[in-house]
Amino acid sequence: MNKNYSKWNVFAAVVVLASGALLACSQVEAPKTVDPGLADSHWEAPVATHGDAPHDWSALEKSLKPEACGQCHAEQFGDWKKSLHAAAYSPGLIGQFPGMGHVEGNDCLKCHAPLAEQKYVSNRDMLNSLQTKLKQPTGFPENGELDDRQRPLRHAGVTCAACHVRGWQRFGPPQRDTGKVGHVAGTAHGGFTATKDFERSNFCASCHQFPQEYAINGKPLENTVKEWQASRFAREDVQCQSCHMPDRKHLFRGIHDPEMTRKGLAIEFAKRGVQAVLTITSTWIGHAFPTYVTPKVLVRAEALNDDDTVLRKWQWEIIREVYYDEQWREKRDTRLLPGERREFVAQDFPEGSLRVRFVVEVIPDHFYKGVYAGLLSNALEGDAEELIRQAVKQADANDYTLYDEVVLL
Ligand code: HEC
Ligand code: HEC
Ligand code: HEC
Ligand code: HEC
Ligand code: HEC
Repeated sequence: MNKNYSKWNVFAAVVVLASGALLACSQVEAPKTVDPGLADSHWEAPVATHGDAPHDWSALEKSLKPEACGQCHAEQFGDWKKSLHAAAYSPGLIGQFPGMGHVEGNDCLKCHAPLAEQKYVSNRDMLNSLQTKLKQPTGFPENGELDDRQRPLRHAGVTCAACHVRGWQRFGPPQRDTGKVGHVAGTAHGGFTATKDFERSNFCASCHQFPQEYAINGKPLENTVKEWQASRFAREDVQCQSCHMPDRKHLFRGIHDPEMTRKGLAIEFAKRGVQAVLTITSTWIGHAFPTYVTPKVLVRAEALNDDDTVLRKWQWEIIREVYYDEQWREKRDTRLLPGERREFVAQDFPEGSLRVRFVVEVIPDHFYKGVYAGLLSNALEGDAEELIRQAVKQADANDYTLYDEVVLL
């Protein structure tokens, strides 16, 4: 988000992962049938290491880099590296940092590269990182290559360790085949601690939900977990993971993925007397469509004559539009809530109209495009400028057409 976002930097500390706190009993080893839960501190200021690694561990077990985890967890690595979590240390993010300084930059990293081990120690450290990023090859290498100069841990964004490692210990969901919770012995990294907290929506809250005290027109800028809680999906025990990590896959597909968005909606065309009606229903989305203030969805209709000339146009926007004016304000909120059905009606067709065309377009990074344009008009320099230009290209490439049909009137 833009610069003012850092006003929410207290955010990470407020996260509620309370369920574990009641059961946790850190000194005494809990019986294996008791779910230890995640400590409150899991998301507060996550540190993956704490001191030296156990002396009998191999270099591979000691490494926090996703490429290292990937040697043994090839499936998760293969999926995760295609996800946006792997791309969270992005040009559009870090290109803003020279104008902010490394301390404010670190506030942004709370969600984009959350481990203590990923933070900047100085402004110089940050500026060097920008240079490395510009030279870094895109994507991740095949398993095995652990080149720290080209691909520092920081650049891996929301890494495996960000969710799974604290104080060298691995944490994960209940063991797949046995459903075991608590400490599970294993042949690598001293086994792991299994808890059902990994299967719950609250697990995602520290980065995908703002506290209520930052509400704008009653709703925080990021309100995904609350939206979910109010939906039938929460009542039916369909968690974020059910949709975004089916069968525990690590793809985390969202609005940037046309297939995912299509899967969440039912789009139907109908003629109704002198009207042409496109109906969009949110059938499988566990929050508002879209949940963030950053995407925009355009619904357009065109009346066409026999040689495809456009005789009339209609346009609607699905968006929660906010702007900053001393404080954040909401201009409008036309998003679809879970289960909501909305009609887009084209009528009063001009004479000669033969066909009508309905198009639904998704602009996932609409808000950021504005931020980048603003930054570029403010005379950015050097690496920052190059990074923001990359971000503009990427944001433009993310636009897609969700639906495009021409129907006889
Ligand atoms: C040398 C191989 C190896 C490396 C490297 C490795 N792991 Fe593991 N990991 C294992 C094995 C073996 C298990 C136990 C699997 C079991 O018993 O279900 C395991 C279990 C886990 C689990 C628990 C899975 C569950 O069922 O809940 C998590 C989470 C995990 N590892 C994360 C990581 C992360 C993150 C890294 C990198 C920072 C990593 N591992 C590096 C071999 C490895
Ligand atoms: C509370 C967690 C959180 C914090 C803190 C945060 N972001 Fe983000 N950011 C997100 C999430 C989640 C997304 C993806 C959803 C979206 O597109 O809005 C995102 C997306 C972005 C994007 C677009 C995608 C990309 O990576 O290029 C940019 C740019 C960005 N953030 C910049 C920032 C900046 C700058 C800061 C600090 C001022 C910041 N963010 C702080 C959670 C956060
Ligand atoms: C954003 C947080 C997040 C990141 C990043 C992440 N994971 Fe996970 N991982 C989870 C959650 C949540 C689950 C449990 C999902 C469920 O139970 O539905 C999980 C499950 C697992 C499991 C158990 C899989 C199984 O089939 O039983 C392993 C192993 C694992 N992750 C390893 C990794 C590795 C390796 C990486 C990096 C390449 C990684 N994770 C990145 C959150 C994350
Ligand atoms: C019933 C399935 C379902 C559930 C439950 C669900 N989502 Fe989604 N989510 C989707 C679909 C489909 C999309 C793509 C359409 C969209 O953007 O709304 C999506 C999009 C997203 C996006 C993209 C950004 C945006 O503006 O839409 C994020 C981030 C996200 N989900 C996070 C979450 C989190 C966090 C939870 C749990 C609190 C969750 N989702 C629960 C189906 C689901
Ligand atoms: C440590 C912070 C963090 C945690 C924890 C986290 N995310 Fe994210 N997530 C992010 C950031 C940052 C982005 C945006 C990456 C980018 O584009 O720069 C993101 C992006 C996403 C997207 C892609 C949205 C899109 O625009 O298409 C989905 C889906 C998503 N997260 C789901 C989840 C789910 C489900 C969980 C819990 C299992 C989760 N996340 C936990 C930080 C986090």
